Amino acid sequence: MRVVLGVGAGIAAYKAAALLRLFTEAGHDVTVVPTEASLRFVGVATWEALSGKPVATDVWTDVEQVRHVRIGQQAQLVVVAPATADLLARAATGLADDLLTATLLTARCPVVYAPAMHTEMWQHPATRANVATLRSRGAHVIEPASGRLTGADSGPGRLPESADLYAACLAIVSGGDGAAGHSLQGRHVVVTAGGTREPLDPVRFLGNRSSGKQGYALAEVAAARAAQVTLVAANTALPTPAGVDVVRVETAAHLQTEVEALAGVADVVVMAAAVADFRPAAYADHKIKKAHPEDESGRGGDGAPVVELVRNPDVLAGLVAARAGRGHGGPLLVGFAAETGDETGTVLDLARAKLRRKGCDLLVANEVGRDLTFGADTNTVHLLFADGRPDVSIGPASKRAVAEGIWDAIGPLLEAPVD
Ligand code: CTP
Repeated sequence: MRVVLGVGAGIAAYKAAALLRLFTEAGHDVTVVPTEASLRFVGVATWEALSGKPVATDVWTDVEQVRHVRIGQQAQLVVVAPATADLLARAATGLADDLLTATLLTARCPVVYAPAMHTEMWQHPATRANVATLRSRGAHVIEPASGRLTGADSGPGRLPESADLYAACLAIVSGGDGAAGHSLQGRHVVVTAGGTREPLDPVRFLGNRSSGKQGYALAEVAAARAAQVTLVAANTALPTPAGVDVVRVETAAHLQTEVEALAGVADVVVMAAAVADFRPAAYADHKIKKAHPEDESGRGGDGAPVVELVRNPDVLAGLVAARAGRGHGGPLLVGFAAETGDETGTVLDLARAKLRRKGCDLLVANEVGRDLTFGADTNTVHLLFADGRPDVSIGPASKRAVAEGIWDAIGPLLEAPVD
């Protein structure tokens, strides 16, 4: 997406650098248009280095490229962060006295203002009127956060955190209003995350590369939407999100026990964990040594042990079967599928087949390979619904933004009765 990041002259301009990183790391093309005065807070070098593009504040630079018109015309999203009282006033009046205000007049895409200023300025009738004018013309003006402002005072006027602004922008572009999203108040949500480890001996295990970041983002967003959240975490090293209960597990069998116990009280179980399909058939309770003369059984010709594997239970399939066995009710079941596509089908073909095979209500197909999903901070997913709703694609976007999109899709499913 072609994004214009307008930067006003507020101390919060430094936070716009983090917002810029979120856009560029998710693969968006960002042109930064600061006001001249904002360069006192963050300079041209920072914006050029982070965006990889030249930066100008006036309409007299590169005149032959007609930048004062082109930048706005070509934009698919304009975000102004921080939007100062002065900038809101100039935008509401339709002034075009620098490159940013000219761009705001030529943009026909969604325009998002993230105001940041002292509480008195934010609450002044002049600013209120300017915000109302901008909103009446279709612009999105995000409410500032409350908290410590520059100096000793505090109150509404802070620029929201970059990740929240980024998520709000993506929601606006995808047709939402950028508000908090579908509430999960009163819901008990179980999310699995990470990758199971299947021990071979006291020091070795069979594992996988799952970092748990997508599952953690899902838990964090569900908690932010007021759900009671239990995160079943398999071998992760991530900080516990605020307001989330964590149950730590190691193996697939352990994960199965915990999830099955929780499924009885959950409204939805989201199986984002990478659960090992196989485990070693036998566990050696001592460290397996290089060939011992007295212990040649089960070893190859060079003395290396041969590890026999057996199938692990399919936890998700078990939840589906248990729900079907009860006849009615039970939690909504969401599966994940890491797919690359192969000669038998595209990512979507394989995911559709897996949705039918697993029998869950929603399958989130991760395109692995495209953004190197394991451990990465961005993700591309396709949501496939068992009830025939059209597929939804999200990304490439941060795992937090993907999590917002997944909960936006789950919300309406929770309202519908489960067969
Ligand atoms: N899953 C599970 N129990 C397993 C393996 C997977 O509950 N033993 C869950 C995962 O948490 C995920 C979904 O099933 O939500 C799909 O996982 P995946 O490994 O892609 O599915 P498989 O059926 O193992 O398919 P594949 O043959 O592609 O590995």
